[in-house]
Amino acid sequence: MAIKTFDGTKIPTTADGGAALAAFLREKRADSHFWQDEVTGAYHVLGYAQTRGILHDPTHFSSDFSHLVPESTEPGLRDHVNLGTIDPPKHRKYRSLVNQAFTPKVIAGMESRMAAVTDRLLGALDGLDEFDLVTNFASPLPAIVTAELLGVPAEDHSLFRTWAQVATGGAFDNPIGELNEVTVPESVSETFNQMREYLLEVAKERRKDPRNDLISRMIAAEIDGERLSDAEVYGLAASILIGGQVSTTVLLGNALVALGGRPDAERDLRADPSLIPGFLDETLRYYPPVVFAYRLAKNGAELDGTPVTDGTPVISWVMSANRDEATFPHSETFDLRRDPNPHLSFGHGIHYCLGAPVLRMESRIAVAKLLERYATIECRNVDYHETPGVLGVRSIDLVVGRA
Ligand code: HEM
Repeated sequence: MAIKTFDGTKIPTTADGGAALAAFLREKRADSHFWQDEVTGAYHVLGYAQTRGILHDPTHFSSDFSHLVPESTEPGLRDHVNLGTIDPPKHRKYRSLVNQAFTPKVIAGMESRMAAVTDRLLGALDGLDEFDLVTNFASPLPAIVTAELLGVPAEDHSLFRTWAQVATGGAFDNPIGELNEVTVPESVSETFNQMREYLLEVAKERRKDPRNDLISRMIAAEIDGERLSDAEVYGLAASILIGGQVSTTVLLGNALVALGGRPDAERDLRADPSLIPGFLDETLRYYPPVVFAYRLAKNGAELDGTPVTDGTPVISWVMSANRDEATFPHSETFDLRRDPNPHLSFGHGIHYCLGAPVLRMESRIAVAKLLERYATIECRNVDYHETPGVLGVRSIDLVVGRA
């Protein structure tokens, strides 16, 4: 089948909560699983099997965009190791080292602290019957959890929030498919320098005096006799610090929106909290915080038998894959009991989200505690990020009533 072309500049943003984008992708998907943007030359992939296949094939679809970013002399950027944008074989080494520190046991050990932090944040809202969920809860929660995971003082969480917001700013601004002119604003390099100084100091202290935290475990991790340098510990810690916060904030907001418009789902969750994990996976499928994954074609990649010039951007639409009828029957229906639910919202293959277990636990606790604490929850004034790449709530007022 020939790959069709379209004008990618007409892709709707996520400003309305994703409805227009989902409708656009559905229409295109019905016609073909592969499209080429006639303006930028980038390819767009819309089917589930095709998206999964690309994420599973780092040999032909590279995550390494480093040659598009001018080499920085700023230490914070120079030393930053973004796991998500490294190809094998280097990726394997770094990922295995971080994995040694990020074990299921470590994550399970965080549960009681996460519950305590959640209670503390909600306790601070006692007496209010209306508040913005994002500022008061969904944004500080992942910042504190990330700080505790890395083993740095939780009081510094507002620094973490700012760093993550500035560092992920690009995800909100870059036009789709235009990867050939990536520039890094000064505010971003300044942020990375601050993060580097802070995390290098922590790494230095943990080398002298190890503790039970991720940074100490990364310092101790070893593969084939190789250990991480302090600069690498900084780079990987920064990748975790940035990777998880904004998407987690967005997911919590999206979960409340999903509940707000579905009284039956809210009633079912209140009656049976064991449905919460399935509800969150369905929220991730239906409203994926990360809407698409970027790759660059390499080593003679092909799409549907058509050769793709090395270096061409290939945009895999997770949002479209997640609603492909061939994999998800009644894909436009939000079904909290959907099983199986093999959505691609955490990616797939070697770059599968490292933080998924942390996020699953954190969001399960958060939703359970919100439902326990408030007998009624009403969503008002929902405001969405307006971007091509992130789908989710920027602010949302909750009007709550205690039992
Ligand atoms: C709702 C929350 C989250 C979503 C939707 C999400 C989504 C994703 C996706 C789609 C990828 C793969 C990107 C690609 O293949 O191009 C990814 C990778 C990654 N995520 Fe997450 N993430 C979330 C939370 C977190 C958290 C809480 C952390 C850290 C504690 C985290 C850390 C990472 C890291 C380090 C990677 C890179 C892994 C690698 O390349 O090997 N994420 N995430």
